[in-house]
Parts: sequence; C-alpha cells; structure tokens
Amino acid sequence: MFAGRQAELEALSHAAVDTWQRSLTKDSSHLSKRTRIIHGAPGAGKSTLLRELARHLHSGSAEPGQPRLLYTNSAEFSQNTDKIIARLENLARLDADSWKGRLKSIASRVSYSANPGPLGASLDADSSALERPRNIGELADRLPADRWQAPVVLAIDEFQNITDGMHMPEVKLTLQSLHEAVHGLPVLLVLAGLGNAPAIAGGAGLTRGLTTTGIGCLEAEEARGLVRGWCRHFGVDPAGHGERLDRLAADTEGWPRHLHFALQALAGEMVRPGVDGQLSGVRWSVVMERNLELRRNYYNRQQSPEMRMSSYLIAAVMRDLDPDEGLIGVERLIRKHNCNEPGWRLPTGMDVDEFASHLIHQGALQENDKGGVVCPIPSFRSFLVERGEPVPEIERKPSEPEPRPVDKDILNYDDPSDLPSPGGW
Ligand SMILES: Nc1ncnc2c1ncn2[C@@H]1O[C@H](COP(=O)(O)OP(=O)(O)OP(=O)(O)O)[C@@H](O)[C@H]1O
Ligand SMILES: [Mg+2]
Repeated sequence: MFAGRQAELEALSHAAVDTWQRSLTKDSSHLSKRTRIIHGAPGAGKSTLLRELARHLHSGSAEPGQPRLLYTNSAEFSQNTDKIIARLENLARLDADSWKGRLKSIASRVSYSANPGPLGASLDADSSALERPRNIGELADRLPADRWQAPVVLAIDEFQNITDGMHMPEVKLTLQSLHEAVHGLPVLLVLAGLGNAPAIAGGAGLTRGLTTTGIGCLEAEEARGLVRGWCRHFGVDPAGHGERLDRLAADTEGWPRHLHFALQALAGEMVRPGVDGQLSGVRWSVVMERNLELRRNYYNRQQSPEMRMSSYLIAAVMRDLDPDEGLIGVERLIRKHNCNEPGWRLPTGMDVDEFASHLIHQGALQENDKGGVVCPIPSFRSFLVERGEPVPEIERKPSEPEPRPVDKDILNYDDPSDLPSPGGW
C-alpha cells in the first residue's frame, strides 16, 4: 500500500533515465555530482519510497536501457563494499532478456530487501570473492561504461549509519568515485537517511552537486486515500463509515508511521471473532485507544537515554523553536536554556552541537530544504513538550514567562462519539 510521493518518485525516475541518456553522450562530466539524498525523520517513509522506486523502475517490459535499482543499506555497504560493487557489475552486465527473466523469477518484481534479497542474492551467484573487482576503477576496467546494458540506481538506505564505516578508505572512495563519476559509469547514487544525512554525505566528501529532498507528512487527501485503499485491498466495504475512516486518517497528521499504527489498530478490531471484517462490528473507542498506545510506545522508543536526561531542556527548545532560524537558532536556544540543574543539563559528554544533531537524528527536529529547522511530527513535539515541561521549573526561570503553548488534547481521542455505543459506534 503506497500513497503520495509522486513528485519525489518522478524526480528520481527522471534522474535515473537521465543518467542513461547522459552516459550515451560519452561525456562523463555530465554524469558527475548528481547524487540524490532523501532525508526524513524515523518513520517518514524513506525505505518505503526506495521500495516504491524499485517497483516503479522495474515495472513495464524491461526495455533496453531501463534503469535498474540495487538496494543496500549503509551497514551492508560499508562491511561488504566489494560485494556491492560485484552486484553492481553483475546487474549492469545482464542483457535485457536476462534482466526480464530475472524480474520474472522474483515474484515481487522488486529488488528491495534489507538483506541480500531475491535480486541481491541472485546477483552474488555470478561471481566468487576472488573474481570480484575491488573498487570502482577495477569495475570500470572490467566493464567500461559502453558495455553497460542499463543504468543502475544504487540506493543506500539508513545512510546516517555510514559514519561507522567511514574509517574504511574504500567506503569513502567508492562513494566519492560514484558521485564524481570518475570512471564515467552510469550509476545514480540515491542515499536515504535521517535529517542529518546531507551533513553526513558532506563529511564523506560528497560536497557539491547534491540534490536533497526532505520527506515528511503526507497530504490529508493522500492519508484519506491510503485508508480507503486499505479497505479496498482487504475487501472491506467503507459505506456508512466514511466519516469515521476519514477521522482515523486525519488523526495521524499524515505521518506515515502513524498511518501504519492506525491501520494496525483497525485491523486488530476487524479480525476479532464475530466481527468478520465488517466495519459495523468495530469498536472505534478500542481502535483509537490502541492507536494511541502504539503511538505512545513509538514516541517512548524514539526518546534516547540522552533525551530523557535532558527532557526539560528539550521541552524548552521545542517550545521556543523558530523554524526560520535554522540550526543556529536551535543551538542558541540550547545555550539559552541549558543550566546545571537536573533535566536542564546537556547529556553527559555532549556539547551543544552534538545535542542539536542528536535531536535531528532522533526525529525530534528536521532540517528542511530552505535551511530551516522544524519539528516534523507535530504530536511528537507535543509529547516532548508535555513530558519535559514541569510548570514550576519553567516559571523558576525568569526569562521564560510565556504560558505553555501545548495542545494537551493532541494525543487524546476524547471525542465523546468515541465512547462505545451499540453497533460499535
Ligand atoms: N508513501 C507511503 N504510503 C503508505 N505507507 C507508507 C508510506 N511511506 C511509509 N509508509 C508506512 O510508514 C511506515 C514507516 O515507513 P518506513 O519504514 O519507510 O520509514 P523510514 O523513513 O524508512 O523509517 P526509519 O528511519 O525508521 O527507517 C511503514 O509501515 C510504511 O509502510
Ligand atoms: Mg527505513
């Protein structure tokens, strides 16, 4: 089930097709510095977008030159760089007929998998460790650009974790030579990661020519469409329950992971004995309660020990945040509110910079493409403000006289119509 993100999908597909056209001109300078970065808070839908991109590129009749997507994540990429390069070669070698066959044999027709999935594993079978090219230069010697059958999108997910492998020279070198298209190979790098992914890419030496795209909430209409699509998919008749379903969608704020929780909660009710997949048998108050519980657990998981240690400080920063002031504004707020009191201190061993990055990493904050910083999930912000803001503490600080701008109800489904009533309404 996939909703929205059409502009992002189109832009990525276009860039992949364009990679091939540029490589046909044999001017490799046209291929350089075209890396795409997809960034967003945990649960924004980055992995889902990559999977959908694979589906999108691999659908159709596998024409010559049709882009192919090779999915990996940063851990696999940095631990097995040579294996990924070998897969890249094997994928690029497949002629259109073999590629078609490969797609057919993969039931889902998708090369997505966190571990070597159907496509990844089948590509490994073509080469033993001894025969593998050790770097992109060797790959280009063995298979120069003019012998590639199609362009390849190399999608590296969870890119924020690449820092663990950055001490290995081959990791950085491989990323740089693909980004710079040093050997003129038709590869488009697509890196997906948390809000700090663009900064991490910069640290890996991919400094110029990055196109960054932040993803966040889906549009209200898209969220509604997803819930209706879910009903269709499972043969559930929405007639007479439209308003209730739309409320369930609206309640998620369009945040993809919340949508997932909402549908999970609804599904839990629908499979209850006696309900038989009929919406009329659903106890909506139970759905809402379960939905709320799933969301709360998620927020609790998103709070690192460091965030718990500095919960008042976070609350004050989240409350006072001015999106237009960017990261500098966040750091200023941290400095302003930080003091040597429990809850107001910086986490042990972290400086202001690191704490600001940590908040981005945990999905509490996100940099947007205009250099601003926002709270990507409104209700997560409320959760953090409520959790961390003891009124007396705030009042104790003389520079902070403002009232609490917290929407207390944001996580409470306190609509009286949620109370159980005959017929499940
Ligand atoms: N466009 C979408 N349409 C429908 N559901 C979506 C969409 N994007 C994400 N989801 C759902 O939201 C949930 C979170 O998505 P996903 O795992 O892709 O997020 P992520 O950004 O990769 O998170 P993380 O940073 O934790 O890896 C999943 O259950 C997924 O099915
Ligand atoms: Mg993911």
